[in-house]
Amino acid sequence: MENIKIHKLGIIMNGVTGRMGTNQHLIRSIMAIIAQGGVKISDQEVIMPDPVLVGRNAVKLEKLAQQVGVERWSTNVDETLADPQNTIYFDAQLTNLRVPAVKKAIEAGKHIYCEKPTATTTEEAYELYTLAKQAGVKHGVVQDKLWLPGLLKLKLLKDTGFFGRILSVRGEFGYWVFTGEDQITPQRPSWNYRKEEGGGIIIDMLCHWRYVLDNLFGEVKAVSCLGATHIPQRVDENGKLYECTADDSAYATFELADKVIAHFNSSWCVRVRRDDLLTLWVDGTKGSAVAGLRNCYIQPYGSTPRPVWNPDIESPIDYKDGWMPVPNNQVYDNAFKIQWEMFLRHVVQDTPFPWGLREGAKGVQLAEKGIESWQKRRWVDVPELPV
Ligand SMILES: NC(=O)c1ccc[n+]([C@@H]2O[C@H](COP(=O)([O-])OP(=O)(O)OC[C@H]3O[C@@H](n4cnc5c(N)ncnc54)[C@H](O)[C@@H]3O)[C@@H](O)[C@H]2O)c1
Repeated sequence: MENIKIHKLGIIMNGVTGRMGTNQHLIRSIMAIIAQGGVKISDQEVIMPDPVLVGRNAVKLEKLAQQVGVERWSTNVDETLADPQNTIYFDAQLTNLRVPAVKKAIEAGKHIYCEKPTATTTEEAYELYTLAKQAGVKHGVVQDKLWLPGLLKLKLLKDTGFFGRILSVRGEFGYWVFTGEDQITPQRPSWNYRKEEGGGIIIDMLCHWRYVLDNLFGEVKAVSCLGATHIPQRVDENGKLYECTADDSAYATFELADKVIAHFNSSWCVRVRRDDLLTLWVDGTKGSAVAGLRNCYIQPYGSTPRPVWNPDIESPIDYKDGWMPVPNNQVYDNAFKIQWEMFLRHVVQDTPFPWGLREGAKGVQLAEKGIESWQKRRWVDVPELPV
């Protein structure tokens, strides 16, 4: 043990008392990494995160710090930025606070890791990328869906040629988010439904669909999107009725490289009668697959049934029967944790980490183009952002 070199990394975690900050980033990623003895880079070396919890509310921070067993917390971001032992700034605040906070951290020379969307406009998101590049700091943006077991299975199928030529991808995302009425607590924060606070399902979800599509099925070339605010009023955290100014549903079609067509429905106003909260359905010439968050089912060409339209009789084919599960051939770790570990390695060892602020800006760009398409009621091209 004495010979082990420990790379201790001070990480400023801002917005850590939020839904994502606490559960996915602090508990399931950083504390899990600490509990496993750090990120092992060789038999002699480990990377050990040393978080400082940052936020506005001292009471909440102290309670969270005690709950998870972290010593350092602060309500003063500037002080934590001035402390040279903190080398990484992480941001999971609500979206429209991200840009000024990340800019400040870049100015302080910190490496940046942050939640998506990185901004609410492409211009600002891209500016963060150029600033980080100029400052020479390392940067990463959360693209967690890429490491979900279901999507890893899809990637394996694609990489091993299972699909033949991919024709189309259908994404179905969403669930019923309670409005706050009838004494039922909503599962999402109220700012999600207020445009002026960075809310809206298009800005939230098209960021995800961008990296999912780009990484798995081909670069997004154009978008046609229709947004809707199906539910006009909801009840906030203080029990007060408020107007929903942001879209709660989006119906979007994408043209990808190599003529692949993707269509994604995203909604907080639907009830689930499918395998999971997100399902991705991929049809190819040689086979099809349907993935949820963890599981994935396939139907190869050779076992594709031959249905004939006849509503007058019960279907002779059990359509769900002809699918087989992709086995769990590996242990799947938490998706956020996997990406954190890769980012920490990138900071210490300079290993490749392609999911930086430019990729983050591409997500914001797709959301922005989606909103433009909705407003103009037409297809909008998605130009490549300069490297
Ligand atoms: N990667 C993903 O799958 C995923 C999922 C959900 C949310 N997110 C992103 O994570 C970020 C946080 O989302 P969340 O759902 O955890 O939100 P949340 O409302 O639960 O948390 C927001 C955090 O920001 C802090 N905050 C700072 N100033 C605030 C202010 N003036 N008003 C309200 N809160 C303030 C809160 O204290 C809290 O710590 C958002 O940018 C969101 O888009 C990502």
